[in-house]
Amino acid sequence: EGKHGGSLEALEVTSDECGASIRVTKFGGTLYSYKDADGEEKLFASEEGHTDRSKPVRGGVPLVFPQFGGGELPKHGFARTSEWLLEDTPTEQDGIVTVAFVLESNEETLKIWPFKFKLVHNIVFGASKLQTSMHVVNVGEEAFKFQALLHTYYLIEDISQVQVVGLKGLSYVDQLRESNTFTEENDPITFEAETDRIYTDAKGPIEILDGKSKKISIELSLSTGEDGTDIKPCDAVLWNPWTEKSKGMGDFGDEEFHTMMCLEPGCVSRYETCEPNATWVLTQRVTFSKM
Ligand code: BG6
Repeated sequence: EGKHGGSLEALEVTSDECGASIRVTKFGGTLYSYKDADGEEKLFASEEGHTDRSKPVRGGVPLVFPQFGGGELPKHGFARTSEWLLEDTPTEQDGIVTVAFVLESNEETLKIWPFKFKLVHNIVFGASKLQTSMHVVNVGEEAFKFQALLHTYYLIEDISQVQVVGLKGLSYVDQLRESNTFTEENDPITFEAETDRIYTDAKGPIEILDGKSKKISIELSLSTGEDGTDIKPCDAVLWNPWTEKSKGMGDFGDEEFHTMMCLEPGCVSRYETCEPNATWVLTQRVTFSKM
C-alpha cells in the first residue's frame, strides 16, 4: 500500500541459486528493486512515490520512450506509465536469471503517437550483476524517430562522498545553464549542487565510488542489429535534484537526494530512427562490488 493510496502490482523474481532478487511493476514495467546475493538493495526508490498510477514510479529504472522532453507527448514519454506484460516465464541458468516484459502499441498509444512498435524490457541478473536493456522494434510500415533512456536511480550512501569516474573528455549539455555546452574536465566528478547533465558519446566503464567502500561499474551500449552488431556509444544523463528541486517534487522526499543519484544511459541529445522490422537495443551492464 503506497503513501499516496493505491498499490502497484509487481512481480518478484528470486534466483534459486544465489538468492538475488528483483521486483518489477506492471505499471511502467519499472524495475524498482534489485537485491544482490547478500540481500542488499542497490536501487533507490522514493518513500514518497505515488502508487496510484497518477505518476510514474519514482525510483528504480523507469523507461523513457518515445521521447525525453515533453512537447505534445507526456514528459519522458508514455512507456513509464503504460501497463506492461510479462513476456514469458523467467528462466535461470547457473545463477543468472532472465526475465522480459513487453509493451506493444495499442489504442491509447496510437492516439498520442501514431506508430506501431513493440518494446521489450529485458532484465538479466545474478549475485552482484544486473543487466537491463530496452529493445525497440518497429512493427509498422513506416519508419519512426524516437528517443529512449534507462532512467536508473542508484541507492548510494552519501551523495557528498560520491565520485563518478570515466566521463572526462566527453562533451555535455548542462540542462541548468543557458550557455550550456561544455567538455568534462573533472575525473572524478563530485556533487555539491543540483546536477542535470547530458553527456554524449559515453560507453563506459563509468564507475560510481560510493563514499567508503562500494563500487558500481557501468558499461553502456546501443546497437541497431538484432544480433548485437553495429554497437555505438550513447548519451548518459547524470542527475541529482539536491535541495530546492527536491522540495518542489511532490513524489520525492526533501532529504532523499542524499542517498540517490541517477546515471541514465540512452539517446536523448538527438533522435534515433527505427525502420520497419528493425530492432534497436539499448543496454546497461552493471556490476556492484566492494573495493
Ligand atoms: C532527468 C532529467 O533525466 O529526469 C531531469 O534530466 C528531470 O531534468 C529528472 O528532472 C526527473 O524527471 P521526472 O519527470 O521523473 O520528474
